[in-house]
Amino acid sequence: MARPLQIDFITLFPRMLAGFLDESILKRAARKGAVRFQVVNPRDFTHDRHRTADDRPYGGGPGMILKPEPVFAAVESVRGEDGYTVLLTPQGRPFTQAVARELAARTHLLLVCGHYEGFDERIRIGLADDEISIGDYVLTNGALAGAVVADAVVRLRAGVLGASDATVEESFSQGRLEYPQYTRPPEFRGMKVPEVLLSGHHKEIARWRAEQSLRRTRERRPDLLEALPVHRTC
Ligand code: ADE
Repeated sequence: MARPLQIDFITLFPRMLAGFLDESILKRAARKGAVRFQVVNPRDFTHDRHRTADDRPYGGGPGMILKPEPVFAAVESVRGEDGYTVLLTPQGRPFTQAVARELAARTHLLLVCGHYEGFDERIRIGLADDEISIGDYVLTNGALAGAVVADAVVRLRAGVLGASDATVEESFSQGRLEYPQYTRPPEFRGMKVPEVLLSGHHKEIARWRAEQSLRRTRERRPDLLEALPVHRTC
């Protein structure tokens, strides 16, 4: 198997990630050696009695922001040679499946999670290789955004989802939404599984799925079709 992907979360709230990292596919991925997780708390890099990792902004304004010293120390303690440092922030570039693929190709990610009002600007200037937003809304806790990014990235790594390679067919992998899926029973509360899926005709099934996928994308996310290169829109 390829070298494991190392993911380090830098967060003041390590317990927010404990349950997430201890569940199902991510846990299995770590057990199989496809990925290694580490959670680093900037508070462990403070030197005062109160272990102060955040403070009020200069110039006034609401909330607390992350101080530079403990975040720099936390990042530098784990970054090594190949660490790619990603700041989770609503000001970052939008997180998409393409960005997930980019990150999945790396060997070592540091996900720096802010909280409340965010970071001292020097953290961005001095540490960030990349800045990512998971959507146009503001979370109180960047660890949630870090978990979202890690989840989408880890499932793309070889050996995580298994032989069926579910990532080739799914939404966004071809720049389209996924076709409708059914399992047993063939009829439930009057709703029937489309005949073609029961037919066993693989070519027909593939054609139906492609049509459905295109129709769904046109109806719900026409912007995805506009974004596709011309030769892929046929
Ligand atoms: N931190 C707070 N809100 C966020 C968002 N939308 N994306 C990434 N990090 C965040």
